[in-house]
Amino acid sequence: MAASARPSVVPQKDLESFQEHLDKSTRILALIGAGLSASSGLPTFRGAGGLWRTHDATQLATPEAFGRDPGLVWQFYSYRRHMALKAKPNPAHYALAELARKKEDFITLSQNVDGLSPRAKHPPDQLKLLHGSLFDVKCSDFFCNYVESNNYTDPIVPALAIPTDESDPTTTSALAARELDISDINVDLPELTFSHLPRCPKCKRGLLRPGVVWFGEQLPAKVMRDIEEWMVGGDKIDLIMVIGTSARVYPAAGYVDAARAKGARVAIVNMDKNDVPASGLYKGDWFFEGDAAQIMPEILKGVIGELGDMPDAAEE
Ligand SMILES: *[C@@H]1O[C@H](CO)[C@@H](O)[C@H](O)[C@H]1NC(C)=O
Ligand SMILES: [Zn+2]
Repeated sequence: MAASARPSVVPQKDLESFQEHLDKSTRILALIGAGLSASSGLPTFRGAGGLWRTHDATQLATPEAFGRDPGLVWQFYSYRRHMALKAKPNPAHYALAELARKKEDFITLSQNVDGLSPRAKHPPDQLKLLHGSLFDVKCSDFFCNYVESNNYTDPIVPALAIPTDESDPTTTSALAARELDISDINVDLPELTFSHLPRCPKCKRGLLRPGVVWFGEQLPAKVMRDIEEWMVGGDKIDLIMVIGTSARVYPAAGYVDAARAKGARVAIVNMDKNDVPASGLYKGDWFFEGDAAQIMPEILKGVIGELGDMPDAAEE
């Protein structure tokens, strides 16, 4: 072994049996969640920092909140877009993107809205964004169907720049505010009106809104249809990988059960060794405990090889 090779983070026996199975698998599913982004240093939805500590995120992520105060909701999403752009896709995102290029009947279902898989150039047809994306914008007008994907412009309109203490832009608090890591800063969010917010270029009437699924909204119909078609589109499923998400809650639990019913073996990658499916682990399943950013490139290596360049679509 070369001196530069990283030490293995998974037991050799599991690694071998997984790689052997992966090698001969054709129909493969991955389900990814917040744990994958945590490896990129991105705080979870409810862990929003800065000014947003005093707001309840779940109260801002609704169509009603947007109807009431679109300026406030956009400020919250502008902050989340900014934070997501500061994070970078990690080796697990790149490894899954590469696996998608190597195995054409592999799809990834993502619960993340942070844009990290698209930025890692995950083939778009093989990536199903269950909750939409912070970097999709769509028209909020009921009668308009305008949608734009992968818009990484930050801020999306000038009025949505992250507020700082402009009275003294050199103070530590202003700098920290810009980094959004502290809560006790002395700046107020400016009141925004309709005219400050991004408008739909198609109907010229509606406000644009973040293309994420809000509380009380349906999961995107096309995505759900694609997944359904894929699930029934073959006699069996060889493998489901559950990465950085709890296999106990909807929708992960449902997909694990459905895949198992079609013969899939289950591989879980999670920091928490107690996070096993509600139905337990079966003989032939794998549990890889630890950081997905380390584990994924290692367990997929037999198919994807060593990770090479890691381009970031947001920087192009
Ligand atoms: C993103 O959306 C904003 C608002 O509609 C628009 O002004 C900007 O040009 C878009 N960025 C890209 C790269 O298309
Ligand atoms: Zn419109």
